[in-house]
Amino acid sequence: MCKGRMKGIENFSPLAFSGVFSPAREQSMLFVDYQGVTVPRLGFGTWRLTGAECIEGVREAIACGYRHIDTAEAYDNEEEVGEGLRLSGVPRHALFLVTKIWRDHMRAGELQASLTTSLKKLKTEYVDLLLLHWPVPEVPLEESLRALDEVRRAGMARLIGVSNFTVPLLTQAEQLLPGALACNQVEYHPFLSQAPMLDWLRGHSKFLTAYTPLARGRIFAVPEVQAMAEAHGRTPAQIGLRWLMQQERVAAIPKAAHREHMLANLAVFDFMLSEAEMARLNALARPDGRLINYSWAPAWDVA
Ligand SMILES: NC(=O)c1ccc[n+]([C@@H]2O[C@H](COP(=O)([O-])OP(=O)(O)OC[C@H]3O[C@@H](n4cnc5c(N)ncnc54)[C@H](OP(=O)(O)O)[C@@H]3O)[C@@H](O)[C@H]2O)c1
Repeated sequence: MCKGRMKGIENFSPLAFSGVFSPAREQSMLFVDYQGVTVPRLGFGTWRLTGAECIEGVREAIACGYRHIDTAEAYDNEEEVGEGLRLSGVPRHALFLVTKIWRDHMRAGELQASLTTSLKKLKTEYVDLLLLHWPVPEVPLEESLRALDEVRRAGMARLIGVSNFTVPLLTQAEQLLPGALACNQVEYHPFLSQAPMLDWLRGHSKFLTAYTPLARGRIFAVPEVQAMAEAHGRTPAQIGLRWLMQQERVAAIPKAAHREHMLANLAVFDFMLSEAEMARLNALARPDGRLINYSWAPAWDVA
């Protein structure tokens, strides 16, 4: 069982905050998106967690205080994630569960069937957020969006959104289904600017979920990050996550198999980076900073 002994976790209460997000509430763990659903800003990523490690990891993460769990059809671990949720003993309504529809299930009918299978594996009647995992140019966006909206209306997903979309694609989606999408989940860490995307999302009262938020450890060796970690008595991972949590309308989903990492990543709500430190981290962005890219990826926004 997680004891929460790390600095900053002692008073951690993931459900202690509610209300509309504002910069003044940066220290809080939660915000409410414009559709009135409470979204825990710091979630738990599960990609590459499988089998018993995934079951135990999800159970342990929830015991540590995570209430936002991120999975996907493509991670092939929804069954294990569902079992971890069940073993946690935390009521379903207190959890924020995210899954994603894979690229080959974007057509009408296929999307609904795919979600039905996911829900069965996850042992739940609904997800809190359902995302299109990647844009798929071969399928009309309108068809996928209508299917997404249909499962939302049917109560199978409280919120709907997308992942790996660009500003032009989101603009198109917003025209097709005004106001329906809550967020875009994209790669975001100090090596990769998401300035155009953040501007767009904030302008439309939506939020960004940062995936690969620690750049899979690549930020840990950066001298600026190490210096800030030393100055604040924190770890480089905590500096990277604090940088994200100090940005309006940003959530993050670090993955951690190790309990000490799970705990450390939650303990980022009791210190502040200065404006100068935020600027130094912003300045680490570089053109080749992206880690996740595939042949099917869209033409990414240029920051
Ligand atoms: N939508 C998409 O297309 C997409 C793409 C990629 C990822 N994602 C989501 O984003 C989640 C996170 O991304 P990611 O797994 O690629 O990378 P990440 O969260 O940036 O990095 C995970 C790595 O960092 C280590 N780590 C975590 N906390 C640490 C700490 N406090 N100190 C030192 N090391 C630490 C982990 O170690 P241990 O595991 O050993 O603890 C693991 O090796 C995924 O699990 C998935 O849910 C979504």
